[in-house]
Amino acid sequence: MPVRLAVPKEIFPGERRVALDPSVAERFTKLGAEVLVQKGAGKGAHFVDAAYEGKARLLDDAAALYAEADVVFKVQPPTLDELDLIRDGAIIVGFLQPHRHPDMVHKLCDKKITSFAMELLPRISRAQSMDALSSQASIAGYKVALMAAEMASFFFPMLTTAAGTIRPAKVVVVGAGVAGLQAIATCKRLGAQVEAYDIRAAAKEQVESLGARLIDTGIQAEGVGGYARELTDEEKRKQAEVLAKHVAAASAVITTASLPGRDAPKIITRAMVEAMKPGSVIVDLAAETGGNCELTEPGKTIEYNDVIIHGPVNIPSLIPVHATETYAKNLYNFLSPMFKDGQLALNWEDEVIRESVLTHEGEIKHEPTGRRLRGAS
Ligand code: NAI
Repeated sequence: MPVRLAVPKEIFPGERRVALDPSVAERFTKLGAEVLVQKGAGKGAHFVDAAYEGKARLLDDAAALYAEADVVFKVQPPTLDELDLIRDGAIIVGFLQPHRHPDMVHKLCDKKITSFAMELLPRISRAQSMDALSSQASIAGYKVALMAAEMASFFFPMLTTAAGTIRPAKVVVVGAGVAGLQAIATCKRLGAQVEAYDIRAAAKEQVESLGARLIDTGIQAEGVGGYARELTDEEKRKQAEVLAKHVAAASAVITTASLPGRDAPKIITRAMVEAMKPGSVIVDLAAETGGNCELTEPGKTIEYNDVIIHGPVNIPSLIPVHATETYAKNLYNFLSPMFKDGQLALNWEDEVIRESVLTHEGEIKHEPTGRRLRGAS
């Protein structure tokens, strides 16, 4: 019997993405798998049921879908109710956010579900085509730049008009990872003058290659796996002192700094906001993990001292077609090498599989999650 890959409708409020678009569903079918799609699953991303016909079997509801599934493809972490419907011993692949969902992790173990968390994929060259964190961060970086341009009370480009010349807006991008670099590129295309700030030394060359200037605070804080580490109090003080001047001169500040599996570092203080120009804007991409600005309210837009502070959440879902298409390709590139003759054979020798597995055969395989949950119990 072919492996059955299931694609449910995402139930997280506001989520418009779906794990597989019709063209990637078809590619899995060509590998010998059977793809099952819940009716209406692709609607939020503009993939109607008819587009899946001939590529997948459509099922009426989630219960019917999960009852048959060998592998479940998700975007958002499964809820406990969804897990109740999924068969014991099945496989789940998706963004699982284990640090936020301890009950989900316990239930995955209880049901002996093998779960792969896309956010745990190692950032190695071979895994780039599977890197869902990057594909979605890139989309989010583009979108927050547009939000900043939309919400600021200033033009981004330089304009020469009959009434005089308007100077280009100054934009400060904090955090020059995947999202930050895309935000920089988008702001540059809109004509803004961009300054960027990051604590990884490698960021300098990447920022400058996009035509932006790196703000040098003299702090370098490389952590493991190419990520940043948390700053000491003294480093935070020094960082704030230098950044404050640049933030005060900006028409827009876009913040994208994050630390893996942790709350976002607080970088833009209340005092910095108080020194900003009236009509300027902060768009805080890190809102979902607590925000890089002290005043950010996740999911809300507030005004403080004539400055707009926007805290959007689930930004990739706002560009659902491309977010879905790229995510689906990431899933395909992750799972397709493990198909042999229409069957799925997990290769535990493969570092990509070993590092991205969260639970298997009733055990938590991701050490930091295991430590955290043991500490909590
Ligand atoms: P992320 O989403 O974890 O963090 C975003 C950015 O915030 C990072 O650049 C980080 O250095 C920065 N940051 C953290 N704390 C900060 C602070 N206090 N002040 C200023 N900036 C701060 O990072 P992302 O975008 O997921 O990328 C992480 C690393 O992985 C980067 O080095 C990136 O180039 C690398 N990468 C490598 C890939 C590969 O080789 N396959 C693929 C994608 C990313």
